[in-house]
Amino acid sequence: MHQFHYVGNKLQCEGVGLDTLVKKFGTPLYVYSQATLENHFHKLDSAMKPIDHLVCFAVKSNSNLSVLRTLANCGSGFDIVSVGELMRVIKAGGDPTKCVFAGAAKTEAEIEFAMRQNVFCFTAESEPELVRINKVAARLKKIAPVAVRVNPNIAAKTHAKITTGTYEDKFGIAFELIEGVYARAAKLKNLRLRGVQMHIGSQITETTPFEKAVQKMLPLVKKLKARHGIEFFSIGGGLGIVYKPALESGSPAWWKSAAAKKILTPQKYADKLLPLLQPLGLKILMEPGRFICGNAGVLVTHVEYVKRTGRKNFVIVDAAMNDLIRPAFYEAYHQILPLAKKNAATISSDVVGGVCESGDYFCKDRPLPKFTEGEHLVLMSAGAYGFVMASTYNTRPLTAEILVSGKKFAAVRERQKVEATWAGENVAKWLK
Ligand code: LLP
Repeated sequence: MHQFHYVGNKLQCEGVGLDTLVKKFGTPLYVYSQATLENHFHKLDSAMKPIDHLVCFAVKSNSNLSVLRTLANCGSGFDIVSVGELMRVIKAGGDPTKCVFAGAAKTEAEIEFAMRQNVFCFTAESEPELVRINKVAARLKKIAPVAVRVNPNIAAKTHAKITTGTYEDKFGIAFELIEGVYARAAKLKNLRLRGVQMHIGSQITETTPFEKAVQKMLPLVKKLKARHGIEFFSIGGGLGIVYKPALESGSPAWWKSAAAKKILTPQKYADKLLPLLQPLGLKILMEPGRFICGNAGVLVTHVEYVKRTGRKNFVIVDAAMNDLIRPAFYEAYHQILPLAKKNAATISSDVVGGVCESGDYFCKDRPLPKFTEGEHLVLMSAGAYGFVMASTYNTRPLTAEILVSGKKFAAVRERQKVEATWAGENVAKWLK
């Protein structure tokens, strides 16, 4: 579900025409729907209602202060991976005591800061990290709450670059070693073994990998509860979203209904997982990012040129891989819609940016309406891992971000000025 719809022939976000936003703020432009963020949070939160749980939004997926504030207002906790993310959460009015601090490379300074903020738990990814957290806690005369990230060695059936729960991946500690790790950690005086965590990957569109991983974890989790009195089990994030809607023009009806059946909804997820999790009698944490914000954002871009060369029709736009890297990095699919609907014949097109890399494309050989210079295109489902992965490569300033709520809108990030891309740089004295 999302709140981007055509009204007449114009694409709107909630009650605001994207053309209005383009006129006011220019392009490339990220636009987020507050109602979609809230709706997705509440859907997952209410599907899990039968058990004691906490949804911890994965800040890495979209860390804009207004997005975080929206979710904090919904009662969300946060999954953070750096002190920077923790500081953002605090700045946005989120509650540090509802934060789980993951990440494989926490520095002493980060651990100390997080401990002083009383984070809910550290998710440790290695034994040396447990030792380090214990050391910092002892220095601060505190007891640090920790969970260990278990690598359950379950294939997530997703893109290789976003699978995290197999022994090929750097994440967590191997399943077979966990009991020993907890036994040793129990001897570290300044640690409190508060929970256990797993995360098998991202953009998982079936329930089976989640079920398999939870089933594999259950006996271990029970043992850890009995031996160490753990209080929670975090089942990670990873819920996939629909990037390729069945409503794409030309899809036959049978395909649309088959596709609808395949969509992973919070209810399907909860129906499969709750019966497994409920008997544990533990608090269940979830760390969804993409599910909450993926379809809540789009990237609007302007067609600069159309170039027909060789066998190709290149639509050259003002957004590029530095603004949205997912197609270049993961061969990710983002639906591309015209801001103003049109009935033009379709033509096989490559939509590309202006960065000097052949990987700088948003789609290749995709049948799209024939676009012309001056039109605007909308890259859908760009709310997760979109702006947060942006860079200033080719000295392209970071885009603006807009939050829409009903008929209201606000620039929740101003467009970066080009001078700001070299702020903090200096010409070495001897070069002057
Ligand atoms: N928890 C942990 C420990 C994670 O590593 C991640 C994502 C999440 C939660 C949130 O996963 P989600 O619910 O959003 O799937 N940049 C990639 C995705 C990288 C995911 C990294 N970890 C992309 O654009 O597809």
